[in-house]
Amino acid sequence: MELITSITRYLSIVAILIRIVQSLPYLPEEADWNLNQNQTATHPLDYSGQWDDHIYNPSPENWRFPFYTIFLDRFVNGDPSNDNANGTQWEHILTSNEFRNGGDVLGLIDTFDYIQGMGIKGIYLAGTPYINFPWAADGYSPLDLTLLDHHFGTIEDWRTMISEAHRRGLYVLLDNTFATMGDLIGFQGFLNKSAPINPNEYDYVWKYERRYWDFQPGNEVESECPWEHPRFWDDNGSGLTTTTLGSSCRNSEFDQYGEVAAFGNYTEWEGQISKFAFVQDRLRGWRPDVLAKIKHFSCLTITMLDIDGYRVDKALQVTLDYLGEWSEHMRYCAKQVGKDNFYIPGEIVGGNSFGSLYIGRGHQTNQTISNMTEAFMMTNKTHKSDEDLFLRPAERAALDGAAFHYTLYRGLSRFLGLDGIYTAEGDPPVNFVETWNGLVETNDMVNTNTGKFDPRHLFGVTNQDVFRWPGIKNGTQKQNLGLYIASLLMPGIPIVSWGEEQDF
Ligand SMILES: *[C@@H]1O[C@H](CO)[C@@H](O)[C@H](O)[C@H]1NC(C)=O
Ligand SMILES: *[C@@H]1O[C@H](CO)[C@@H](O)[C@H](O)[C@H]1NC(C)=O
Ligand SMILES: *[C@@H]1O[C@H](CO)[C@@H](O)[C@H](O)[C@H]1NC(C)=O
Ligand SMILES: *[C@@H]1O[C@H](CO)[C@@H](O)[C@H](O)[C@H]1NC(C)=O
Ligand SMILES: *[C@@H]1O[C@H](CO)[C@@H](O)[C@H](O)[C@H]1NC(C)=O
Ligand SMILES: *[C@@H]1O[C@H](CO)[C@@H](O)[C@H](O)[C@H]1NC(C)=O
Ligand SMILES: *[C@@H]1O[C@H](CO)[C@@H](O)[C@H](O)[C@H]1NC(C)=O
Ligand SMILES: *[C@@H]1O[C@H](CO)[C@@H](O)[C@H](O)[C@H]1NC(C)=O
Ligand SMILES: *[C@@H]1O[C@H](CO)[C@@H](O)[C@H](O)[C@H]1NC(C)=O
Repeated sequence: MELITSITRYLSIVAILIRIVQSLPYLPEEADWNLNQNQTATHPLDYSGQWDDHIYNPSPENWRFPFYTIFLDRFVNGDPSNDNANGTQWEHILTSNEFRNGGDVLGLIDTFDYIQGMGIKGIYLAGTPYINFPWAADGYSPLDLTLLDHHFGTIEDWRTMISEAHRRGLYVLLDNTFATMGDLIGFQGFLNKSAPINPNEYDYVWKYERRYWDFQPGNEVESECPWEHPRFWDDNGSGLTTTTLGSSCRNSEFDQYGEVAAFGNYTEWEGQISKFAFVQDRLRGWRPDVLAKIKHFSCLTITMLDIDGYRVDKALQVTLDYLGEWSEHMRYCAKQVGKDNFYIPGEIVGGNSFGSLYIGRGHQTNQTISNMTEAFMMTNKTHKSDEDLFLRPAERAALDGAAFHYTLYRGLSRFLGLDGIYTAEGDPPVNFVETWNGLVETNDMVNTNTGKFDPRHLFGVTNQDVFRWPGIKNGTQKQNLGLYIASLLMPGIPIVSWGEEQDF
């Protein structure tokens, strides 16, 4: 017994030493949360995992049913034992809205009667399921793309929840941040102030002891960048734009071009290559080997957890051509497990003309289809004569729709009486019939999987990123009027944010 104990102790010291010198992707202590089940894999592309002895849930033919959004952490606490999973002081603090409240996937199961009873058929979980900082309740700053956050539950808990959802005919959509991660990397000389866009890139410095397992920054300058630069579109979605980027780049798996605020005075292309809002490191998603890892990890989540779709976070900050490649791979991956209508909406905060580049095969402003009959009759076959109407072939369709439609939201905000500037480039008029007509003319709404015209924008009156209507005068009535328009008038998918059904 004694001997075994000391051997175990010796082995664990060796294991710790090995961990320091080389990143071992399979860690026994993380086995319940690690989506990679391949114990011998050292290269990320060898990570693998399937849900054994499981029949995967087929996709619905038609996604136009009511959706419900929640932040897991803010919903129901089904397993109090994981509230302080990291054992730190700044973690689970119920009286603060800055820290964790303790909601988790087991708590979600407890509320399925309630959710299903309202007629909801789709659940969109805001924030990724992956590990974040101990206090980061929203899940939008993943530190790893294969390790689940202990606070939400184990792989087994997730599978229990998703099986129960599917048994009840509910479909589950997870969030995917694509190339943005947590906040581990700073720019040399700019740790205490913001780093403006720098075409020559900055030297990186680690901010803490912590490292990403599967992605490495780098300071070496490649005078001739070995990877083709992405194509960038101008902010109006009217065509390609030139940038200040030169021919060199850093040999880095991260973009080190500086940082910009969440909203503000910068062009779309700058947003696509910079650290987001000063707090989310951005992977160089346009570098093929980095993209291959992002695709591989996103696919691993599908095969391990049997999810039904992804909502792409900050979708307009993903370089367009590479989002098309990723979406193509997601559809392929989902088809391997029998899901032939995997749903990929994305966050489109900007104006309709830039957003239109991302939907389906993509339309620039010179590619508007003015004949509505023709728009409705289109299929996923791009005929020779139509080729110049689209940016991409149907295989590379990027987004199936907007996850919360900001163009409609801006229109509703004006209609419901808010003061301010509620219009963005290319937004169709606020008269909702004209709004719809404008969207049909500018958004490719053909479902690439089925070849049919299939509008799948998620229309709502509020979401996790904007204010709650009942907080203003007559807000409850305004919210309900907005819900009638979003749910009963606009052809698409109605979505409510948790609490709206109770006038919160
Ligand atoms: C597991 O990793 C090894 C490399 O150690 C690789 O040869 C093998 O193909 C991987 N298995 C799967 C199922 O991907
Ligand atoms: C807990 O937090 C520390 C410091 O951020 C980190 O090194 C460790 O991996 C975390 N563990 C878990 C289970 O989150
Ligand atoms: C940042 O500012 C703090 C407080 O003024 C200071 O203690 C710290 O040394 C500064 N760090 C760097 C890297 O300049
Ligand atoms: C975008 O459109 C606006 C208004 O139509 C115009 O003022 C601006 O110059 C355009 N910008 C570009 C980059 O085309
Ligand atoms: C926005 O950025 C442009 C170009 O960098 C600059 O000319 C302009 O003054 C800025 N405007 C504001 C309000 O900061
Ligand atoms: C619109 O397209 C349809 C089908 O191609 C065609 O029959 C109709 O004449 C067109 N309408 C106009 C106004 O061009
Ligand atoms: C739109 O512009 C692109 C170039 O930006 C061109 O390739 C395409 O043919 C144009 N399409 C139409 C319908 O004018
Ligand atoms: C287009 O739709 C058809 C069904 O009509 C489907 O068989 C085909 O795979 C789709 N094509 C693409 C590129 O997805
Ligand atoms: C609230 O509704 C009442 C009754 O319709 C109306 O008289 C009042 O002007 C509204 N107030 C605001 C701020 O909209």
